[in-house]
Amino acid sequence: MFFKKKVELDMSNIPRHIAIIMDGNGRWAQKRGLSRTMGHREGSRTLKKIVEACYNLGVKYLTVYAFSTENWSRPKQEVDDLMNLILEYLLNAEKELKGKNVRIRVIGDRKRLPERIQKEIERVESNTRHIQGLDFVIALNYGGRQEIIDAVSCLVEDVKAGKLCEVNEQAIAERLYTHEIPDPDLLIRTSGEMRLSNFLLWQCCYTEFYFSKALWPDFDEACLREAILSYQGRQRRFGGVKC
Ligand code: FPP
Repeated sequence: MFFKKKVELDMSNIPRHIAIIMDGNGRWAQKRGLSRTMGHREGSRTLKKIVEACYNLGVKYLTVYAFSTENWSRPKQEVDDLMNLILEYLLNAEKELKGKNVRIRVIGDRKRLPERIQKEIERVESNTRHIQGLDFVIALNYGGRQEIIDAVSCLVEDVKAGKLCEVNEQAIAERLYTHEIPDPDLLIRTSGEMRLSNFLLWQCCYTEFYFSKALWPDFDEACLREAILSYQGRQRRFGGVKC
């Protein structure tokens, strides 16, 4: 049997916030002659393992793109199956994460989600609100442009009401769904696709990108470590120069 050597990481330079576009569930299923839903189910298993791996590595924030504002255009059966998987995940999350300090929250426009999911989100968020450890953020019915539209609408209302007199970066950032969450340090997209697909448009201003060829259901801790290793080799200058 062949054992892959574990990539050694600099534990003093673990990204504080990792964002992931979990892409490739459909292709993973297609390659095996399975339904797309089976791909999403396997993707959900992968997600559980990656949440645990991030927790063990000391990552502080993990944000995953689970359902975009554009995903409603998929066949109804796939959308329904995805909603059921998400509901199942939320129902079991606390039990599965028991003993680990993981706070769960959801970003996106939740009003369009099925009522049962909305209720579960409220329950899980409220039950885990006090937890300090890993903040696990699930983007559901999330669109980066919609998030900016919502923030700007709120800002206009506040200006009209005389609650705000200067429009600046902070004024917008404070009105985004992610207002309590720092910008991602590392964004990973699986399946070889290299685009942002309306994910965290504002927040990824200075994020380091890593594209993995692995389809999401095949992504594992070793792949995560490779991504972090690549991040650790980058020089982040945030528009400045190296001193
Ligand atoms: C993209 O792959 C994946 C999605 C749109 C859904 C992601 C959902 C999960 C990983 C599982 C459920 C999530 C939670 C939070 C329990 P794709 O379907 O576009 O793949 P393809 O590009 O190969 O067709």
